[in-house]
Amino acid sequence: MELLQDLNWRYAVKKYSTEKVDEQKIELILNAINLSASSCGLQPYRLFVISNEELKLKLKADSFNGQIAESSHLLVFAAYNKITTQNVQDLVSLTAEVKNVSIESLDGLFVSIDSFFRSRTDEQNRHWAEKQTYIALGTALVAAANLRVDATPMEGFDAELFDKLLGLDEKGLHSTVILSLGYRDEANDYLANTKKVRIPLEEMVHTLN
Ligand SMILES: Cc1cc2nc3c(=O)[nH]c(=O)nc-3n(C[C@H](O)[C@H](O)[C@H](O)COP(=O)(O)O)c2cc1C
Repeated sequence: MELLQDLNWRYAVKKYSTEKVDEQKIELILNAINLSASSCGLQPYRLFVISNEELKLKLKADSFNGQIAESSHLLVFAAYNKITTQNVQDLVSLTAEVKNVSIESLDGLFVSIDSFFRSRTDEQNRHWAEKQTYIALGTALVAAANLRVDATPMEGFDAELFDKLLGLDEKGLHSTVILSLGYRDEANDYLANTKKVRIPLEEMVHTLN
């Protein structure tokens, strides 16, 4: 399976070259992210794509991750702060439109999804939304590797600063995880050409026949 070669090729790059990723490749990665699975299909997050050098520098601030400023593009995954009835209604309307069925025929779907979220606290729903962003992050990592674009997933960033500089709170969002995209600086990245460290498959997998 070629995908395994892609996954063996990729690693979390520490040092990027100054080469930029062309917008067509970025677009393909964004399309892949948008095809990610999400619970109930709600896609409870938005994505911010940043190539502006000044903004990347401001976002890096005191973070130990130089990749925030040095990469070609920075993707910020931002989860919904709350799940509202309007969010569920929007999903039902879109489903009706895409599948060419009436909204009324999706009443059962609406009630089951909305009552699920209403039965929980905003905090629980916020946490649920955050988990969905990590599925999108995984898709992005795989898509980038397939295109031989380097990527680094990062939690080492100042989320409060990101939220402020990107005006996320006003949009009902908060940053959860980020991904830099670019090309490895092979000569200066201490992790380039090192072996991948993974536990044996037998330790990871428990098969119950
Ligand atoms: C959610 C998440 C957060 C991470 N945060 C950072 C980070 O802040 N800085 C960094 O250099 N690498 C970060 N990493 C990269 C991991 O250290 C790396 O994926 C792991 O060591 C496995 O190595 P590989 O991805 O190179 O195969 C993160 C990875 C994930 C999945």
